[in-house]
Amino acid sequence: APRYPVYTREEVRRHRSPGDRVWVTHGTEVFDVTDFVELHPGGADKVLLAAGGALEPFWALYAVHSQPHVLELLREYKVGELSPEEAPPSPDAAQDPFAGDPPRHPGMRVNSLKPFNAEPPAELLTESFLTPNELFFTRNHLPVPAVDPRSYRLRVEGPGGRALSLSLPELRSRFPKHEVTATLQCAGNRRAEMSRVRPVKGLPWDIGAISTARWGGARLRDVLLHAGFGERRDGEWHVCFEGLDEDVGGAPYGASIPYGRAVSPDADVLLAYEMNGEELPRDHGFPVRVVVPGVVGARSVKWLRRVAVSPAESPSHWQQNDYKGFCPSVDWDTVDYRTAPAIQELPVQSAITQPRPGAAVPPGELAVKGYAWSGGGRRVVRVDVSLDGGRTWRAAELAGERPAPGRAWAWVLWELRAPVAAGAELEIVCKAVDASYNVQPDTVGPIWNLRGVLSNAWHRVRVTVAR
Ligand code: HEM
Ligand code: MTE
Repeated sequence: APRYPVYTREEVRRHRSPGDRVWVTHGTEVFDVTDFVELHPGGADKVLLAAGGALEPFWALYAVHSQPHVLELLREYKVGELSPEEAPPSPDAAQDPFAGDPPRHPGMRVNSLKPFNAEPPAELLTESFLTPNELFFTRNHLPVPAVDPRSYRLRVEGPGGRALSLSLPELRSRFPKHEVTATLQCAGNRRAEMSRVRPVKGLPWDIGAISTARWGGARLRDVLLHAGFGERRDGEWHVCFEGLDEDVGGAPYGASIPYGRAVSPDADVLLAYEMNGEELPRDHGFPVRVVVPGVVGARSVKWLRRVAVSPAESPSHWQQNDYKGFCPSVDWDTVDYRTAPAIQELPVQSAITQPRPGAAVPPGELAVKGYAWSGGGRRVVRVDVSLDGGRTWRAAELAGERPAPGRAWAWVLWELRAPVAAGAELEIVCKAVDASYNVQPDTVGPIWNLRGVLSNAWHRVRVTVAR
């Protein structure tokens, strides 16, 4: 058998365009597919999405690749092997607190590298109901902590219960594993559209700060009841979470949810250790994270170290002084974070993933695709789509799981096919309706807020139809 040169992932990553050659990996093998790019039956642009990294998460979206002839074809382009002893980059925390962050897929659209914040390309987002782990959006405020699963302990405490310290095997064996398909969405999803009205502070997320996974873990309810906390508590109580990631002052990432949601058997709140059937990836909270379905992503605390029942909300910056909405007139001189409630359940949302803004689409039948989701377990009952800026509408076809009433934690993917005439200029618009008949606002201006959160106006995409 031929001996191949050995490359690191970092070397592969440098080959991301035909000019620099296009390299990809599959398993431990490295391929130079530059000459195949133009021959790809799925289009040159698709291969380039994976350039510099692994094919697997993309192929997970397109099952046409799980045929022997595809691997045979790929074999012709083999140029090397991945270095077997490739160690994760040595964490040199003194110089760079992010040096120990895990490797990521280069196909992600990065909004900030340190801390790492990235979203999948919009057109891939709706190619499968469950988002592959490597393409799931990532929102980190701090460096990713390195956790040794053997010494990991989860502390559970608070008045009226007994303090627990659970190892990972204890969490897995003492409580039944519960699985929930849930969408996570960041409060800042679609912030870029809000900035176009007036600048806001925050990462310029496009429409991809949202993803869906099948989560597996212990129910928070079971753990709280095991620790002696009751089904109900009189007065105001919260369940506070702390992560193992700390800021320079030593304060951990933290957030809280109301006690009632934490213990409700219908709210499906998890202490998750699995994501799409695999152990949690480091970026998504290894070894244990909270998943609060139907609630803003900020409360689903990753790298969970402590759960505390408390009469007050989490004292964390991210609970008290961030992730809140305000009147459009409030600016950084007048804002008083104490006056607004912390965001919990999110409003109804939808966006168009295909075609992309500015695209030239072929005449004939146009397929418009997107996602829709609402907070609080409210099912999306309808998505309306317009091709003429909102003058006329048609209801899209919805696809998704059939959820139990009030527990629609996952998005629906939708599609509308319509004939379009050569040379036409289209303004495609979508808007979703949830089970409470909540609707999205038609424009961004009236919901503008200084932090750019809760951006859920009708999504508009302009395209031209080629002649
Ligand atoms: C189709 C190979 C990367 C998306 C195909 C087919 C082959 C192929 C042989 C035709 C399969 C059949 O119909 O039997 C490859 C190779 C790749 C690669 C060797 C890596 C170098 C990708 C990536 C994506 C992608 C990264 C997505 C991001 C697609 C799609 C089709 C397709 C959407 C279906 C096209 C259609 O039937 O309309 N690919 N592919 N491919 N590929 Fe890939
Ligand atoms: N948990 C910790 N410990 N640290 C964080 O920075 N970010 C939060 C939440 N949990 C965060 C965290 C925010 S704002 C969001 S939107 C989600 O994690 C994102 O989860 P994901 O990165 O798995 O998509």
